Amino acid sequence: MKFGTKAVHAGIEPDPSTGAIMTPIYQTSTYVQESPGKHQGYAYARGANPTRNALQKSIAALENGKFGICFSSGMGATDAVIKLLNPGDEVITSNDLYGGSYRMFKHVFEKYGIKFHFIDLSNSANIAPYLNKNTKLMWLETPSNPLMRITDIRACVAIAKKQNILVAVDNTFASPFLQNPLDLGVDIVMHSVTKYLGGHSDVIMGALVVNDEKLQQELFFIANSCGAVPGPFHFGPVLLFCPRRRRQTTRRGSSFSLSPRIPPDTSRIARRARPIHRVVQWPPRANRHPVPPSPRSVAGRDLRRS
Ligand SMILES: Cc1ncc(COP(=O)(O)O)c(C=O)c1O
Repeated sequence: MKFGTKAVHAGIEPDPSTGAIMTPIYQTSTYVQESPGKHQGYAYARGANPTRNALQKSIAALENGKFGICFSSGMGATDAVIKLLNPGDEVITSNDLYGGSYRMFKHVFEKYGIKFHFIDLSNSANIAPYLNKNTKLMWLETPSNPLMRITDIRACVAIAKKQNILVAVDNTFASPFLQNPLDLGVDIVMHSVTKYLGGHSDVIMGALVVNDEKLQQELFFIANSCGAVPGPFHFGPVLLFCPRRRRQTTRRGSSFSLSPRIPPDTSRIARRARPIHRVVQWPPRANRHPVPPSPRSVAGRDLRRS
């Protein structure tokens, strides 16, 4: 399935109870059980809700992953990943991270005995001195917020896999339109759905996508136990009202990556894009997926309309 088709259709099945073609917003906290434990797959909405399930499948498909788990925010999703760790474990991460991630790592989790190494990940050679037997996670954010620094995902995965270290990528800024870290060997992809995936600035939400079933179960256990799950009116808009918008915003968010093909001074967007492109030269060859040439990126007139 191409990206645009996935953005519209993936995960969405006609509703089995009514035949509604689009997934309804199930506004319920609990579900009737025939007898204790005997139900139709839904017991209590902190654990599962059909609308959330559809959105999780949809986001997983956009990331070429098997399992998606939605959270009440991007930070809720990040929190769940760090809760996979134990006191004494160490994490290698970037010295240019989204400020909220830095705050959580440094001021929430360090006091529980997890050690974070904030290093310049734009050169993977910087990693080696910080590796030891306690290293359990690499948390990458590429491009980074705020400096748009780039980390070579493949190079980090190659280092991590020698030592069985989990690799997680905050893919919020790239969006799944441009970068699918699972395809590069990463274990966990995280999104602040609040940004490109939501697209309307009307929802706070986060998501994780994984391929490994055991990892999915562990993360689901944390989500259900700790409770940072979104309510149905939060995932409803992302799933039901935004599929096209999602495709458009992820495409538009990528305008800077396509900027080498934009002739200079042809449009307002091109002018805005150039400085970012100068800084990041992105996506780097290592993380790049084949992006089909877009006529919109070479025609200033078309770009102005987008
Ligand atoms: C790169 C990145 N990661 C994570 C987050 C946190 O996401 P949320 O605001 O949905 O909690 C943000 C928010 O700006 C972000 O930019």
